[in-house]
Amino acid sequence: MSRILIAGIVVFLALLALLVTVGVHEEQRLVTAAQIDRARQIEQGALLYEQHCRTCHGSNGEGLGALGPALHDAHFFTGRLREVGWAGSMHDYVATTIANGRITATRPLYVGDGEVAMPPWSRASGGPLRYDQIEALTAFVLNWQPTALGEVIVAPMPTPTPLAVSDAAQIARGRQLYGEAGCAACHGDNADGVANVGPALTGIGAGAGERVPGVSPEEYLRASVLIPAAHVAEGYARPGDCAAIMTDVQLTDLVAYLLTVE
Ligand code: HEC
Ligand code: HEC
Repeated sequence: MSRILIAGIVVFLALLALLVTVGVHEEQRLVTAAQIDRARQIEQGALLYEQHCRTCHGSNGEGLGALGPALHDAHFFTGRLREVGWAGSMHDYVATTIANGRITATRPLYVGDGEVAMPPWSRASGGPLRYDQIEALTAFVLNWQPTALGEVIVAPMPTPTPLAVSDAAQIARGRQLYGEAGCAACHGDNADGVANVGPALTGIGAGAGERVPGVSPEEYLRASVLIPAAHVAEGYARPGDCAAIMTDVQLTDLVAYLLTVE
């Protein structure tokens, strides 16, 4: 064999090895980038869910009585498509439901008196959300599948930060949050209520503990912000739009303030 031929083969093999290495790395890089994109999408979906969905489907997709069904149970992921006769994929079922809503419910529990069961969310159907936001919400809902099927064991919900003996600074922070989180718009600057919009919260400090048997004032007030549909004040047909996104510490401050409202 001529030296040139051998040299040629060596160079060829070296190039091949290089290409294979670069190719493998490129593939790994793409996989990681796709995983990061997906994680971001799920995160965005979680925020949108907090804002638009938890008042009917519950903070963790557990469902809220007659307001909305559970979205995180095994039945939803294994039996639901067959039940409604949907031939497409789970992804398309979830995305289509979110985009178009449900004019009539498929189950008697959710059939209201002439009211739409679930409003549409896509702009094309008159809702407020963009296509990529519907996709993010879909990714978030589908993300419950492994836990719903028992493949992943979730750590129990962290217990709320205990209410420290409230001090003046904490109450002042809570008072400020009450304005910033928009509570004042419906409940009045001094928590004395806004006619036809939101009830007065006067006396809520003492009254919250008597609203629901077995529910402490702190729990009742936290639920008012986290899942307004959990308890509906007397005289109101539907839950107020009290839901606000805040950290656990902020919520603790807010509750400390509300407990002082006389
Ligand atoms: C006003 C209450 C309400 C809100 C807000 C709401 N939903 Fe629903 N949703 C419902 C009801 C009621 C149904 C079930 C109707 C039925 O039985 O067909 C439903 C059904 C669904 C389903 C199909 C569940 C199934 O078992 O077939 C999905 C998925 C869903 N909602 C996701 C969402 C997402 C995501 C949001 C937020 C963008 C949202 N929903 C906001 C009330 C609501
Ligand atoms: C868009 C109007 C609106 C906003 C904003 C709002 N609420 Fe409400 N809130 C209501 C309505 C209406 C009710 C009565 C129905 C119910 O209990 O859900 C209510 C009920 C409550 C109750 C129960 C009252 C009782 O007597 O049991 C509490 C506590 C409460 N809201 C706290 C808050 C807090 C804290 C915020 C701010 C994070 C807030 N709300 C924001 C409208 C609103």
